[in-house]
Amino acid sequence: MTQDKSKPTQPEDLLRHAEALLRQSPTDLARLSVEDVQSLIDELRADRLKLEQRIEAQADELSSTNRKLNEAIDQIHRVKQALSIREKKLDAIVDSAVDGIITIDENGQINTFNAASEKIFGYSEEEMLGRNVSLLMPPPHRDRHNGCINRYLKTGKSTIIGVGREVEGRRKDGSVVPLQLSVTEFTIGRDRCFAGIVRDLTEQKRNEREKRARLDELSHVSRLCLVGEMASGLAHELNQPLTAIASYLQACQRLIDAGSLEKLKPALNSAERQALLAGEIIRRMRAFVSKRRTTMAPTNINALIQEAVGLCEANCRQNSVRLELKLAEPLPDVCVDSVQIEQVLLNLIRNSIEAMAEMPTDANRRLLIETGSCEGSRVQIQVTLKDSGPGLAGDQIDHIFKPFHTTKPKGMGMGLSISRSIIETHNGRLWVDPDAPDGAAFHFTLPIADGSDNGE
Ligand SMILES: Nc1ncnc2c1ncn2[C@@H]1O[C@H](COP(=O)(O)OP(=O)(O)OP(=O)(O)O)[C@@H](O)[C@H]1O
Ligand SMILES: [Mg+2]
Repeated sequence: MTQDKSKPTQPEDLLRHAEALLRQSPTDLARLSVEDVQSLIDELRADRLKLEQRIEAQADELSSTNRKLNEAIDQIHRVKQALSIREKKLDAIVDSAVDGIITIDENGQINTFNAASEKIFGYSEEEMLGRNVSLLMPPPHRDRHNGCINRYLKTGKSTIIGVGREVEGRRKDGSVVPLQLSVTEFTIGRDRCFAGIVRDLTEQKRNEREKRARLDELSHVSRLCLVGEMASGLAHELNQPLTAIASYLQACQRLIDAGSLEKLKPALNSAERQALLAGEIIRRMRAFVSKRRTTMAPTNINALIQEAVGLCEANCRQNSVRLELKLAEPLPDVCVDSVQIEQVLLNLIRNSIEAMAEMPTDANRRLLIETGSCEGSRVQIQVTLKDSGPGLAGDQIDHIFKPFHTTKPKGMGMGLSISRSIIETHNGRLWVDPDAPDGAAFHFTLPIADGSDNGE
């Protein structure tokens, strides 16, 4: 027989083999021996068994795969459910947040605009989704914003990402709103997005303005009191040029009587100088006591000290206090309300004079005023006033800055408390040195004016 003896290995091959046998001619089939047929039948049986086993194994495998698939589907459902709960929670948080939350894509297009943002800006979420965030900025920031994002995407440099700062926003009605803004960056897939958290500072700014107005009022009253206390010294200061003017005018009279008109001019010039001096004292006093709003301007602290000293030199002389100035030159400007800082200086000088006035007359009464710069988080100017008076007892140091704390029969106990408020509204610090070896040493700092750090 022509039968191929090579054994088919797979059940499919075996089937094909059997079919091939059946297609053979009856003569060929008749030639097959009984053993051949029997062995063929055995093989077919064995292979059928194998086929059944394989089908069974594959069925098992299929059902296990099916089970795993079902588990995976369940898992996906659970994750989906957890995600949807999380999303709902996040939506609730974003919508109930007191701060405005706005997210934008890298083109500046808004894709989140929460309820607080609606309240701050007056736009609804529907109006803002898909719009450019620059709509919420007043000019000129509005025109610059897209450029800022592009620059950040290219260079990675930003002045705002990760740094909270005060900015101005623009409401739907066109009004400008002060805001505290902090921005963070995040990615969704490959897309870079930004989230801005904005807080409306309108209320805070109003409180600050009211606080400042109250301080303006209080410091004005305190300046009036201060000038009242210094009145005798100032009168004396004014008396000097007035007496000099009177003497020069008498001299002029005599020169006219004697017909020496050529000597008249120098005498008149001297009288004029003294009149200007008296006028300057009055100008200083008027500027000091005038009712006014806080006006900040870059100012040289040394010049301000000279001005304050000018107002109380007579009081120092009257109380035998030797004034020494050690002013560092040149010093960068400080951005201050000069009248208020002069008031602080006068309060501190007056306190030292009053403290030393209690000492025996032959005691060394000395007041040193020193200036210099010091490094903190930014460059600051430090002013120190050291006197040779009785100083402060340890327990007194805790109270002297509290309002109405005084040890003087006619004191109000407001000088240091107002002075500290003034310095703090200037972002500075006023304190007393607890370890001053003799006398009292007060220090205050003031930040230097922007763009004025190259004075040294
Ligand atoms: N240089 C100083 N030496 C010693 N004690 C001082 C000195 N400066 C202030 N004090 C103490 O601190 C207290 C509070 O000073 P503060 O200037 O606030 O009020 P006051 O001088 O008593 O009254 P006023 O409101 O008229 O200034 C003073 O009463 C005094 O006891
Ligand atoms: Mg005082």
